[in-house]
Amino acid sequence: MAFKERVFSGMQPTGSLHLGNYLGAMLQWIKLQETHECIYCVVDLHAITVWQDPGELKDAIRKVTAAYIACGLDPQRSILFNQSQVSEHAELAWVFNCVARLGWLNRMTQFKEKAGKDRENASVGLYVYPDLMAADILAYKATHVPVGDDQKQHLELARDIAQKFNNDFGKWIEKAGHADGLFFPQPEPVITGPATRVMSLRDGTKKMSKSEPSDMSRINLMDDTDAIADKIKRAKTDMEPAPPSNLEELKARPEVDNLVGIYAALAGSTKEEALGVLIATAKEGPSIFTGLKRALTEAAVEKLGPIRAEIVRLMDDPAEIDRILADGSQRARAIARPILDEVKDIVGFVRS
Ligand code: TYM
Repeated sequence: MAFKERVFSGMQPTGSLHLGNYLGAMLQWIKLQETHECIYCVVDLHAITVWQDPGELKDAIRKVTAAYIACGLDPQRSILFNQSQVSEHAELAWVFNCVARLGWLNRMTQFKEKAGKDRENASVGLYVYPDLMAADILAYKATHVPVGDDQKQHLELARDIAQKFNNDFGKWIEKAGHADGLFFPQPEPVITGPATRVMSLRDGTKKMSKSEPSDMSRINLMDDTDAIADKIKRAKTDMEPAPPSNLEELKARPEVDNLVGIYAALAGSTKEEALGVLIATAKEGPSIFTGLKRALTEAAVEKLGPIRAEIVRLMDDPAEIDRILADGSQRARAIARPILDEVKDIVGFVRS
C-alpha cells in the first residue's frame, strides 16, 4: 500500500535551542512545509527522561514553541503541539515496549552516552526513549522524519519496530482490512544539508549540544550579537599555517571543517563555496581564520537576530502560545486517535 506522505519531527524542551538544532533540523522542517503535511512536536514526555524542574518546564515548552514559530513554522499550515497533550503517544509507546527487543535497545549509543558510567541510576524512561520516539512517528503513520545525523540510529529502530509490528500481527492486520498486511510505513530519515552534524565550538570531535556544560561550546538562538561575536571569535581552530586547499584536506581538520560547514549552512551556500571564502580571506590576518570568522559572525547575527527578537515578542503572550498548542494538540489527536483505535483492534483489546 502507498502511504500518504506525512512529516513528523520533534525537539526536546530542555535548555535553549542552539545552532545545531536550527541548521541540522529546523531548516529542513521549514522547507518541508512547502510540500508536505507536517506535524512538529515539542517532546515534553521525552524531556522528563532526565530530571526537569517542574517550575521551569512549562516555560521551556512555551519557549521552544515560540522558537518554532519565530524560525518560520506556521501554526496554521503545520500542526504544532506538545507531546503530553496527546496521550496516544504514550499509549502506542507501551505497545512498542512490547514489540521492541531488549537487544535492540541495548545497542542504542545515545542511551550509553547519556546514562554514562552511572547506568544503574538512569531512569527506565531514558532506556525506552527510542520506543516512545517510534510511537511519536508511527501514531501518525508519518513517512518522512527530518532530523540531524545524531538521530539516525533511533530512526533505524523505529523502522525495525514498524516492520516487526507488521510481521507479528500480519494476519490481524489483513483481517482489519489492510490486504497487503502493512499497517505501519517504514519512516524515512531526512538528513540533508551542509550541517547535519554541527560540532562544539570548543571541540571539533564532539557535537554541539544543550547538555554540554560550557555555554561557549554552542550558539543559542537566544544569544545576542555580542555573545555570538564572542563565541565565534573564541571558537577553536588549529595551528596549521595555511587553510585547507580542498574539501579532502578540510575533512582532516575537524574544527575548521565545522566552522566552514556552519558558514555554508547559514549563508545558503555549498561547503566548497564556504571554503573559498576561507581561502580568499586567509591573508587578511592577524590569523588565517579572521576573515572567515568575521563572515560567519555577520551571517549568524543576520539570521539569528530577528529570530531572537521574535521569540522575545511571542513570549510576552504565553496565553497565545498555549492556545496554539491546544489547537495543534486537537488536530494531532484527530489523526492519531483512529490509528490507535485500529492498533487496539489489531492487538486484540476490547474497546467500546
Ligand atoms: P533533540 O531535541 O536533541 O534535537 C532536536 C533536533 O536537532 C538535531 N540536532 C542537531 N543537528 C545537527 N547538529 C547538532 N549538533 C544537533 N543537535 C541536535 C537533532 O538531530 C534533532 O533532529 N530524540 C529527539 C527528539 C524526538 C524526535 C521524535 C525526533 C523525539 N521524538 C520523533 C524525530 C521524530 C531529540 O532528542 O532531539
